[in-house]
Amino acid sequence: MAASRAARTPRVSAMAPAALIVLLAAVAALPAATAEMPRLVHPPKADGSLTLLAVGDWGRRGAYNQSQVATQMGIVGEKMDIDFVVNVGDNFYKNGLTGVDDKAFEESFTHIYTAKSLQKPWYTILGNHDYRGDALAQLSPVLRKLESRWVCMKNFVVDSEIADFFFVDTTPFVLKYWTDPKKSKYDWRGVAPRETYIANVVKDLDAALKQSNAPWKIVVGHHAIRSSSQHGDTQELLQLLLPTLKAHGVDLYINGHDHCLEHISSRDSPIQYLTSGGGSKAWRGVFTPNSDKLEFFYDGQGFMSMRLTKAEAQVAFYDIAGTVLHTWGLTKGAH
Ligand SMILES: *[C@@H]1O[C@H](CO)[C@@H](O)[C@H](O)[C@H]1NC(C)=O
Repeated sequence: MAASRAARTPRVSAMAPAALIVLLAAVAALPAATAEMPRLVHPPKADGSLTLLAVGDWGRRGAYNQSQVATQMGIVGEKMDIDFVVNVGDNFYKNGLTGVDDKAFEESFTHIYTAKSLQKPWYTILGNHDYRGDALAQLSPVLRKLESRWVCMKNFVVDSEIADFFFVDTTPFVLKYWTDPKKSKYDWRGVAPRETYIANVVKDLDAALKQSNAPWKIVVGHHAIRSSSQHGDTQELLQLLLPTLKAHGVDLYINGHDHCLEHISSRDSPIQYLTSGGGSKAWRGVFTPNSDKLEFFYDGQGFMSMRLTKAEAQVAFYDIAGTVLHTWGLTKGAH
């Protein structure tokens, strides 16, 4: 199975930085209207399991409990011997990076996530705040030279055999950033026009999901499809993205954007919506349930972990003291 997929798609090992840089350079050069999602390979552990952390909405030079979250990520990451971090965007507040030489990269990332267990690939997408700066800077090979663990692209797949992770650039979906940007300027280089970009992203995701033979299909975006916090559901994603996820039996959707931790389960599909947006500033004080089933909601800072085997998924959410707030698990084939 892996071999046939290899024939169709460009693959690089997560352990081959040189090859990856070449790939990233090629990706950056592609026009907006293109083809397959780039595919990275990250094999599971020898025992067939895969462990990871998910975090989002963090870059504030350690403030708003960012450092406390980072410390606990390091401890949990060590305990679980994590393979990588899923980073769901809004990496640098308030306006992304000014360029590849912006010191915020070190001040909010390098000097914060210092634990040994976190020196693993950070598979990263952009959030809306990242688009308010030099969005291309975060995709640049220059940053990967500073930090080989920084793997940031707009739309890509991480293939870990037992799971395929589909990272989707959701900021361009949200209409108000285009029509009503307020005082912000969004860096739409390589994106505009919106409709074409979205149509291509959805088409490429559809093709990648169709090809996927992995037992677990996990989609990662910055914006929530379903959320009970400040921003609520993202209507554009409900309309334009969710049908594709449902059509291909996606198991999990992981996002940030709302600065809280949430688990909502779909009432009409197997999809679990997991929000891990508690990387720094939180405590919004907003709670508005939607019509799907709310399993867990925490308005404060924290992060999420996941352990996968071929047949089992286990998810846990933690606060800044490392206390487990909520767990969820599923065994496939049990139904
Ligand atoms: C940091 O976390 C603690 C414990 O959850 C919370 O009481 C405090 O308000 C947080 N600080 C900020 C600035 O959010």
